[in-house]
Amino acid sequence: MNSAILGTGSYVPEHVLTNADLERMVETSDTWIVERTGIRERRLVESGQACSDLALEAAQRALLSANVKASDIDLILLATCTGDTSLPSTACLLQHRLGATKAAACDISAACCGFVYALSIADAYVKTGMRYVLVIGAEVMSAITNWTDRNTCVLFGDGAGAVVLGLGSPDSGVLSTHLHANGRLSEMIHVPGGGSKEPASREVLDNKRCYIHMKGNETFKIAVKSMEEAAQEAVKANGVIMGDIDLFIPHQANMRILKAVSQRLGLAQEKLMINLDKFGNTSAASIPLALDEAVQSKRIQKGHLVLLAAFGAGLTWASALVRW
Ligand SMILES: CC(C)(COP(=O)(O)OP(=O)(O)OC[C@H]1O[C@@H](n2cnc3c(N)ncnc32)[C@H](O)[C@@H]1OP(=O)(O)O)[C@@H](O)C(=O)NCCC(=O)NCCS
Repeated sequence: MNSAILGTGSYVPEHVLTNADLERMVETSDTWIVERTGIRERRLVESGQACSDLALEAAQRALLSANVKASDIDLILLATCTGDTSLPSTACLLQHRLGATKAAACDISAACCGFVYALSIADAYVKTGMRYVLVIGAEVMSAITNWTDRNTCVLFGDGAGAVVLGLGSPDSGVLSTHLHANGRLSEMIHVPGGGSKEPASREVLDNKRCYIHMKGNETFKIAVKSMEEAAQEAVKANGVIMGDIDLFIPHQANMRILKAVSQRLGLAQEKLMINLDKFGNTSAASIPLALDEAVQSKRIQKGHLVLLAAFGAGLTWASALVRW
């Protein structure tokens, strides 16, 4: 028996940061950002709003749509690289605020692949007898963004998405998941300071070591190749062909990456889910945020074959094939 996505939910903070706003912060232009990334605006948290606040809203909406009570959840997996604090896990804060009293809870750290990694772990638990697992991707990327670096600050945004996983049927639900990592390329996208290697200090702050550093151009090329590979792997593993896919939901990193990947896969534009124009790259939140939008807007219907593919820091890459 497969695990199935019983409900979805998402939440983005109200504050909108447009490309015009960024023009006033760094040397950039709306034209450059739209042409090179496809992003027009992103959402940012208000001061005092943290990862758990976004996760809570998304989780509550997912529970409501799944018609599952928080007290019935067995496990909470929160994918994030921007948790409220480094200790305890943000999943534990969420467990308390949801009133999910019997749930075990932990964070999953796999950057932009975090949601697909967490989905894969949740799937394994449901298949081996667990009843309900709450899987969330929630990020406050604005907290680790250097707002004076035009190479990175135009890309990221804040948000959260969640799903409730429970028992499905033999021919629907999560059909397979595929996870990969290559730590040799860890410095392609990283936050060098603020952890145990370079603990928080005045120097770390002054040298902007607690913010995302990224080799954008090299990352771009690997992202296209890895997401294509992961997508092909999921399709092959299930004996279907790319033409059978009803909706492709890739990690929302850059419009040019998404278009290049779907072109290589031979997928028509109408099968590609895009919402990064409104939210930018929200890391682990990006796929569940797009998934919830696709469900809400009825782009996903019962029986549809939905392909998820992600890529991110680590480096990590991953995919999942879901029969709705
Ligand atoms: C970051 C990214 C948008 C840059 O686009 P690009 O086409 O690769 O641009 P380049 O890095 O080659 O830079 C081209 C020029 O634009 C400039 N530039 C960079 N950011 C700019 C900005 N926001 N506004 C205006 N110019 C900018 C660069 O300084 C460079 O100028 P130069 O030629 O004078 O040196 C693109 O590489 C990308 O999206 N990479 C993947 C990043 C990603 O998705 N990371 C997360 C993965 S989960």
